[in-house]
Amino acid sequence: MTTAWRTDSWQRYRAQQQPDYRDQAHLAAVLRQITQHPTLVTFAEVMRLREQLRQVFMGQAFILQGGDCAERFADCTPQKVSTRLQLMQQMAALIRTPANIKVLHIARMAGQYAKPRTHAFETIAGQRMHTFRGDNINSFTPEPQQREPNPQRLEQGYRCAATTLKHLRNLWSPTHGDFFTAHEGLLLAYEQALTTAAERHWYNHGAHLLWIGNRTAQAEQAHVEYLRGISNAIGVKIGPTADPQEIVAIVRILNPDNACNRVVLIARFGCEKVQALLPRFIMAMQQAALNVIWTVDPMHGNTFYTAHDVKTRHLHHVAAEIQHSFALHRRYGSRLGGVHLELSDDNITECLGGQDNLQTSDLSRAYHTACDPRLNRNQSLEIAKLVGELLAVPGD
Ligand code: PEP
Ligand code: CO
Repeated sequence: MTTAWRTDSWQRYRAQQQPDYRDQAHLAAVLRQITQHPTLVTFAEVMRLREQLRQVFMGQAFILQGGDCAERFADCTPQKVSTRLQLMQQMAALIRTPANIKVLHIARMAGQYAKPRTHAFETIAGQRMHTFRGDNINSFTPEPQQREPNPQRLEQGYRCAATTLKHLRNLWSPTHGDFFTAHEGLLLAYEQALTTAAERHWYNHGAHLLWIGNRTAQAEQAHVEYLRGISNAIGVKIGPTADPQEIVAIVRILNPDNACNRVVLIARFGCEKVQALLPRFIMAMQQAALNVIWTVDPMHGNTFYTAHDVKTRHLHHVAAEIQHSFALHRRYGSRLGGVHLELSDDNITECLGGQDNLQTSDLSRAYHTACDPRLNRNQSLEIAKLVGELLAVPGD
């Protein structure tokens, strides 16, 4: 990746997890239209997050990143945005107060509409169809026709993101600090259409932070190529099959100046593997002298299926991975700078355990996620409380 970056230079590389649109002319027309739309977030805001990340790097602030696994178009109402915001604020208070630290709210909101999937197809009630890839790509409705990737949805995605941001801006009170948005930078043609220039820099105006998913984090592939050229903060998910030297290579490409406020590594090993794996990655960054911010996603490494084939996670495992992560960073002279959670303020029953002691038999009661199981309100507050306590432990 030594040649010049352009908004479309990623097209020369292998791009995994891209939808297979049948009507390429329709896709091109929709993208051309989106390129002409007003910017969603400003360059100044993107730079503001970069500034705040400097404080995270120094240990003066902590990242609370959270939201749905797959955000839905239907959720861009003032009520939905308001209750989601309130939960994030309550969680932030539970972290801020005991730890006496500033909390950066980064919501998986206003654009978290595209999902990577392990399987391209699934069979429901005897019918084979595309898996749901997020509202930006196809419909959740389990019918073959509805599941076809439809480029028109991208236009709707832009509009829902704009509406959600408008509500966020109306509802957010600055006394709660700064509020930022993030989504997985997955669908590269769409992200390219949201790329614009400001003050002689390129940036993506669709979110303040974009992250690369665990499945698309390869140094010599399209996602890294696209993201290296924009000024936004970049997250990189690291899963159990990742190779430390590959992540080193990715960080070097994304952050050639070794800025301390550019790359957020999001570790998601699972509570059983984190002790064996995280130190390798911490040491690899230290040996290469790379400046990175570390967060933990205690959700994606702890997913399992019940005997009835329901995808779930147990709060014990989520809590354990957070505990291990704090301890390991301290032991290896590093710092945990944040948590990354999938959650909802709704009264859902998707994850097990917690104070309400949800059992597998409770899951069917209110299992509403369009993708991965989320913490409900009480479970989210419980985890936030734990984070506040662990962060407050003296010794840093
Ligand atoms: C996600 O954050 O919803 C996700 C798909 O994560 P990962 O890329 O870590 O599997
Ligand atoms: Co998820």
